[in-house]
Parts: sequence; structure tokens; C-alpha cells
Amino acid sequence: MTPPVLGIESSCDEMAAAVVDGRRVLASIVHGQGDVHAPYGGVVPELASRDHARRISQVVEAALGEAGVAPAALGGVAVTAGPGLVGSLLVGLCFGKAFAARFGLPLVGVHHVAGHLASAELADPELAPPYVGLVVSGGHTALYRITADAPPALLGETRDDAVGEAFDKVAKLLGLPYPGGPALARAAEPGDEQAVDLPRPMLAGPGLEFSYSGLKTAVALEVERRRDAGGALDERARADLAASFQAAATDALVAKARRALAREGLGRLAVVGGVAANQRLRERVAAAARADGFRAVFPPLALCTDNAAMIAAAGARRLARGERDDATLGAFARAPVPA
Ligand code: KG4
Ligand code: ZN
Repeated sequence: MTPPVLGIESSCDEMAAAVVDGRRVLASIVHGQGDVHAPYGGVVPELASRDHARRISQVVEAALGEAGVAPAALGGVAVTAGPGLVGSLLVGLCFGKAFAARFGLPLVGVHHVAGHLASAELADPELAPPYVGLVVSGGHTALYRITADAPPALLGETRDDAVGEAFDKVAKLLGLPYPGGPALARAAEPGDEQAVDLPRPMLAGPGLEFSYSGLKTAVALEVERRRDAGGALDERARADLAASFQAAATDALVAKARRALAREGLGRLAVVGGVAANQRLRERVAAAARADGFRAVFPPLALCTDNAAMIAAAGARRLARGERDDATLGAFARAPVPA
């Protein structure tokens, strides 16, 4: 049996560390920075990296402590190398390299999206390739064909904004607090999702691409139209706009996922990333799975949003293949997803 792996994730505004043993999560600690960025309505990169630098030692120590695993008993260290905010990534990378060197452990860099994809198999021991992976986060909206021994094959992705980014931007338009996705989902609860007729872009053509900038602009126009004489938006209008946006944004995901499964001739779908925490998306995918006869896997909420357990899981695969990185491993802002 391979020893447990320490995962470190600091690509954006979460400082996370986890210890994973095979498919068992022994500890997963996530320190969010909501309070740091909330006054600015979005992530301020310099503040993110400073907070990571302040927290990283204690978060890693807490993960090892909770797992009851001594550093010397680890099989390796997996750290997110990108994509993400470069300053934030460097905090995790520098710490990971130093930690690996200090305890004589192998080090591997992990692509953040490969981490999200690994969260599905971590959550469901029965899930095995081939399957379709739908990554829906603040930075990515893409469909992949997942096979056992090749890198994830991109089937289609967004041409512009990511779906999580659209949730965050629309939340801001509606005057909801940061982080926007969960706030928007809450605001949508009492709303009527048919109240506002919004476009579902890219649905007409046969492709597997997404687009969210047009939908965001359409919401912006509807917000302006519904403001009262004093410029305010009443509760009813806010709830209806939130619900109608959420419906349009998630319907597009469900439609393209169905299309990808049919086109690839596959019967399993894994939905991963922060937006996979969205309840309406979960319900609609589950309904489509019943109607079409495919199996849908959603990680538990804690493994949907950024975490280090998924990084440890993806890193463990690289380690098992004998892959290693050294102290020259650098951070990257963009790159295709490797195996
Ligand atoms: O995967 P993640 O934690 O970080 C990235 O890799 O981007 O995803 C964060 C995104 C944010 O845009 C956030 O607003 C969105 O996921 N999100 C949600 C929900 N929870 C988080 N969007 C819709 N509904 C949710 N419940
Ligand atoms: Zn993420």
C-alpha cells in the first residue's frame, strides 16, 4: 500500500492542506479568505498571497495533526502549480518544496483542474473511467472525456466567462455579498425562475462549447429595467432575477453534458468544481440522469469548492506512476490539463 500524500492548494483565495490515503481523506483543512476580500467585492491578489503566507504553516500542521500522520510517514507532497494567481501559487509551491526537501519526500506539481477532476473518484470509489467530466468553477467551464491512461481530452469549453465567474458577476449586479455564487443561490430560493426571459446561449448549435458573457449582459439590462425611481431593486425583483439567471446558467450545463454523453457514447458523468455545489444544477442533472439512463456523480460539497484533498488525490496518481518534480517547479497561470 502506498503511504498517505500531503496536498497543498493555494491557487486563489483558499489556503488548504489535506492528507489523503488512497481514496480515504484523513484530513482536509480549508482556510477561506472571505473576510479579507469581502470589502472589495472580489479577490485582491496581493492580499490573497499575503494571507496565504501568514496561514500556510498552521494549516499544514493542522492537517497533519488531524490525520495523525507524521511528516516522515508521508509518501510525498502534492502542490497546485497552476492555473491560478501566480503570487498565491508561489506561496504553496515554495512551502511544498521546502517541506519535501526537509523530510526527504518526493514532490509533484498538480494542475488545479486535474485536482477538481480527481475529486469525483475520491468521492465515489465505484467511479472508474471512461466517463465525462464536467468542470464548473470560477475559472473553468469545460467538458472532458476521462480515460484510464491518457490525459483528459477536452470536448468543449467556454468561449468567454466561466459559469462561476458569471454567478459572481451577476451576484454583484444584484447587490449581493461576495462570494457571489452561494449568495445568488440563496437569493434565488424564493424567486420564480420563469419570471425573466433570459437567453440560453450556444444551445442551438450541435457543439459542446459554452458562453456566459451574453447571459451576464442580458441580466445587467434586466436589472436596469427593474430598478425603481430611486434606483433600488426590490426583494421580489432580485429573487426573480437570481432564479431566472440560475436556471439559464445551469440549463446550459445540463444540455451540453447530455450532448457530450450521447456523442461519446458514455454512461457516466462526474460534475466537479465550485458550481457543482449548486443545488439546482444537482437536481437538474439528477433528473436528466433518470430520464437518459446515465449515472451522475457529484462530490460532497466540501470537495466541490477548492480544497487540498483533490490535489493530494491527483498528486498520488502522478507519484504512483513514478513521476517527480524538483525544486525548479514553477507556477503557471494557464496550461492544458495533463494526465
Ligand atoms: O472550484 P472553486 O472553489 O474555485 C475555482 O477553481 O474557481 O469555484 C468557485 C466558484 C465561484 O465562482 C463561486 O461563486 C462558485 O464556485 N460557487 C457556486 C456555489 N458555490 C460556489 N456557484 C453557484 N452555486 C453555488 N452554491
Ligand atoms: Zn477550483
